[in-house]
Amino acid sequence: MSETARRTPVGTPRRAGAPPVPSHLSADTLTRARQVIALYPEPRSALIPLCHLAQEQDGWLTPAAMTDIAGLVGVTPTEVLGTASFYDMLHTEPVGTHVVSLCTNIACLLNGAAELLEHAESSLEVNAGGTTVDGTITLEEAECLADCDRAPCVQVNHRFVGAQTPESFDRLIADLRSGARSQDIPDHGTLIRVHRSTGLEADPARLASERAAMAEAQAQRAAAAEAAKSAAEGAGGTS
Ligand code: FES
Repeated sequence: MSETARRTPVGTPRRAGAPPVPSHLSADTLTRARQVIALYPEPRSALIPLCHLAQEQDGWLTPAAMTDIAGLVGVTPTEVLGTASFYDMLHTEPVGTHVVSLCTNIACLLNGAAELLEHAESSLEVNAGGTTVDGTITLEEAECLADCDRAPCVQVNHRFVGAQTPESFDRLIADLRSGARSQDIPDHGTLIRVHRSTGLEADPARLASERAAMAEAQAQRAAAAEAAKSAAEGAGGTS
């Protein structure tokens, strides 16, 4: 790493010049995005919540949305893609309105997950990883979803729907397609933390004071470490 890059303060936008004006995210999404950014000491820390907001709008992270997010948090679109593509919950390609995740890890495997997945692929006429022709369901095979006591575990848009049998799975799919589960399973699965419309604003004065306290604590730790180092060197020289 060059000396210049090493000295670049944390949080310095990597994009040179003025950030581009967002052109894809809706006014409502932008308002929420700015509320979320205000919660963090550094705008780039809001990158993942903003990805969830964009996913709520479009169902997946479109290149245009990633460009807007990059401008909002001061990174490049490639960095947004690099981060988003690491996480299963963020979709960098189009998906169905409902992403149905079947866990096939050990506890679920021992409770019929392989058979359930085979049934799902057959009844939906799509392989795991694919989307049904009508665009309503994307079926995916998942690693442990941390709901092992209700195996075989199924999630729809990140909501747990409990253990499923082939019969209950078919009823679940019918309910999703008819909209009967739209209250408890929103389209595209936005997380409630970023979906809420109140309680997101941070008090600027409180943020400033917390940042100042953080900086002072850092300076004190650095001074203490330096003093300890000097003392150790002094002790070594006199022994
Ligand atoms: S093994 Fe399936 S949820 Fe843990």
